[in-house]
Amino acid sequence: MFTSLVLLALSAVATPTLGASYSQSDSFSGQGFLSGFTHQAIADPTHGRVNYVDQATALAQNLTYASGDTFVIRADDTTVLSASGPGRNSVRLQSNKQYTTHVSVWNLRHMPQGCATWPAVWEVGADWPNQGEIDILEGVNDVAPDQATLHTSADCTMPASRSQTGTSVGNNCDTAATGNSGCGVQAPSTNSYGPAFNSAGGGFYAMERTNDFIKVWFWSRTAGNIPSDVLNGATSINTDNWGTPFAFFPSTSCDLASHFGPHSIIINLTLCGDWAGAVFSADGCPGDCVSYVNANPSAFSNAYFDVAWLKVYQ
Ligand SMILES: *[C@@H]1O[C@H](CO)[C@@H](O)[C@H](O)[C@H]1NC(C)=O
Ligand SMILES: *[C@@H]1O[C@H](CO)[C@@H](O)[C@H](O)[C@H]1NC(C)=O
Repeated sequence: MFTSLVLLALSAVATPTLGASYSQSDSFSGQGFLSGFTHQAIADPTHGRVNYVDQATALAQNLTYASGDTFVIRADDTTVLSASGPGRNSVRLQSNKQYTTHVSVWNLRHMPQGCATWPAVWEVGADWPNQGEIDILEGVNDVAPDQATLHTSADCTMPASRSQTGTSVGNNCDTAATGNSGCGVQAPSTNSYGPAFNSAGGGFYAMERTNDFIKVWFWSRTAGNIPSDVLNGATSINTDNWGTPFAFFPSTSCDLASHFGPHSIIINLTLCGDWAGAVFSADGCPGDCVSYVNANPSAFSNAYFDVAWLKVYQ
């Protein structure tokens, strides 16, 4: 009797902890981003009015700045561009390591804001869309809220009703079937994105990827319910204590293990392009997106990410 009660008590404590406990495997802050990530001087596949520069150029032009626990990446905000020349200098960083099942937690002080901006924090496999894409923080032209989105190959859909605080804007994750929209979920609060995010001092984004589900959480820096392991960037975390995520993508009608491969973590800032350019006027921005980017460098003085840290748990 006594023994079985003890066993029962032990298993009641141990079981929930096992599934959702993770240990920190990587921590990036300040200069750590320069060695842990690669600046990718590549053409923007989404046709943005940007010119992604390499690390030496980014550091020389102060588009990338790393010091102490500050890591800033930005778009150039001083150069008037020639219409026939390359786009505005900007930065795209990709992690040198790849991850399958894991948790990533971002502590962000500021994100790019301004008409034409299309910033993104996301994870993607080398073979797109067959290895999947998970967008954690993304939006355009300062329009809140944040939208978290999966992009996959065929046969991956999400149940219409599920346990999340956000609002689904599409339940078919197949890029081919949705004109590349994928299955997105909008966060419930405007301070998850753009100017409202920045005036609150930013906040924390977290993504948990297992073979059973993908979850995304957001806590504004001023929120009263930030879990202490998130707030402190603890060496071990328990996602069971984090409450209902704003985006929940279960494996019910999507085999996550076969639709998602090893992922790199990417943080990038493009301008105009397939999304921000297409809705530039509809979002209340002046004139035509490319001309606006070319002629108004000072409009990009707040087009920067300021990252306190990124922690990865496995
Ligand atoms: C930058 O991020 C956006 C949003 O996820 C993405 O669609 C685009 O392809 C990215 N650009 C580059 C060059 O990675
Ligand atoms: C470079 O950028 C950082 C971050 O925005 C800023 O604090 C610093 O003053 C800049 N340095 C120069 C030389 O402009």
